[in-house]
Amino acid sequence: MSTDQNKFQAIISHCKEYGFVFPSSEIYDGLSAVYDYGQYGAELKKNIKDYWWKSMTQLHENIVGLDAAIFMHPTIWKASGHVDNFSDPMIDNKDSNKRYRVDHLLEAFAETLPEAEGNALLAKMDELLKENDFAGLKTLIEDNKIKCSVSGTCNWTEVRQFNLMFSTQLGSVTDEANEIYLRPETAQGIFVNFLNVQKTGRMKVPFGIAQIGKAFRNEIVARQFIFRMREFEQMEMQFFVRPGTQQEWYEKWKEERMQWHLSLGTDPARYRFKDHAKLAHYADAAVDIEFEFPFGFKELEGIHSRTDFDLKQHQEYSRKKIQYFDTEINQNYVPYVIETSIGLDRMFLQVICNAYEEQDLSTPEKADSRVVLKLPAKLAPIKLAVFPLTKKDGLPEAAQLLIKECKQYFHCYYEEKDSIGKRYRRQDAIGTPFCVTIDHQTKEDGTVTIRHRDSMEQERVPLTEVRNIVMNKIM
Ligand code: GAP
Repeated sequence: MSTDQNKFQAIISHCKEYGFVFPSSEIYDGLSAVYDYGQYGAELKKNIKDYWWKSMTQLHENIVGLDAAIFMHPTIWKASGHVDNFSDPMIDNKDSNKRYRVDHLLEAFAETLPEAEGNALLAKMDELLKENDFAGLKTLIEDNKIKCSVSGTCNWTEVRQFNLMFSTQLGSVTDEANEIYLRPETAQGIFVNFLNVQKTGRMKVPFGIAQIGKAFRNEIVARQFIFRMREFEQMEMQFFVRPGTQQEWYEKWKEERMQWHLSLGTDPARYRFKDHAKLAHYADAAVDIEFEFPFGFKELEGIHSRTDFDLKQHQEYSRKKIQYFDTEINQNYVPYVIETSIGLDRMFLQVICNAYEEQDLSTPEKADSRVVLKLPAKLAPIKLAVFPLTKKDGLPEAAQLLIKECKQYFHCYYEEKDSIGKRYRRQDAIGTPFCVTIDHQTKEDGTVTIRHRDSMEQERVPLTEVRNIVMNKIM
């Protein structure tokens, strides 16, 4: 295992140990590719959401928000192309008629092999999946003599496509007419509300609609923690533009989204653009913003020029006119769309991976180390921890007074147990940017020690200044 893979395992363990991310339904042995966010994870996730939402809606006068339902009319997914095109490969055993997802079959078989052989098989599988090489996948199954667990034979059909959408029944009658899907992307909720928002908000093209919400995909390769989940959240923005101007807006949003990422202070060398080799059915141009995760450069966000595909499809399937009258050029048209789409959970993973550091602080006299999450202060779950040096002499009361003053403005944490050093370490591990210690001198001259997480520097400042110091960093 490479050091980076070890680091990734350490990050996963850290997320669990410190209340960021837990496997779903853990007491029942978990549910594959589904995760829950713990007390600090939920805060961090919310802060990421707020940072994105604010940058889109509050900082752009021509972008407004939307919160559409997860359940939508099933024809929407026919119109969008997801019913026909959003699929992954599967295979049937001819003797037992049992159907398998190709990846599940190969993954189960890989687990029976020595680790290196199993990994090589999975790497080959990933390569074939990426190329949509169905014949190659079948050959891989046959060459490895993988058997059906029911019939015990290798008598396989051809590999066929399996739709990634989850479906369920609406109402009590279980016939096909009532089958609906859990949305696989939030974007369609925006498209079908285009006219509602444009008219009620008196929006003028170019304008955008932003949305954050759950999406569901029965993912075929779901092995990298919260990188690829079956239930996840997306933060998407559809920007509606005049036909013919889409290239210009595509370039603008590419640049703007990259700047948003860089605004969080990450080393620019850890990001790159990657043009899509194979375009989705709706796009005329598409690029990924990739981040260097511990398992390599991988997609973090997609920017797609979706043409007028979706609005036109909904116009056709709903038989309702979806057009915009542009008063500047006196013309009706179906707007073109630039989409920016980022997974909230994937952004969470990016933030954690970028922040996680194991530091050796040993001196010749003493072995020492710490794990620190160098989270951007504005995203940290807790902004300020306040410690009384001792549990007596009125120090806890003074600490609580400071918390009372600050908690209206940001999230604080009070801790009086263990040595100050241990308390610092616990806050480092959850990424708290500031710790303040209240000691006996505080009572004499009204000053406290404030300790900065990344540099570990400590300085003496007036108690009355603490709130401003923190506010300046998190705004
Ligand atoms: N509306 C366009 C769309 O959904 P996508 O490239 O399929 O495009 C956009 O997804 C983003 O959603 C990805 O860049 C990724 O951040 C996130 N995403 C997609 N599938 C995911 C999954 N299974 N788990 C977590 N995040 C996912």
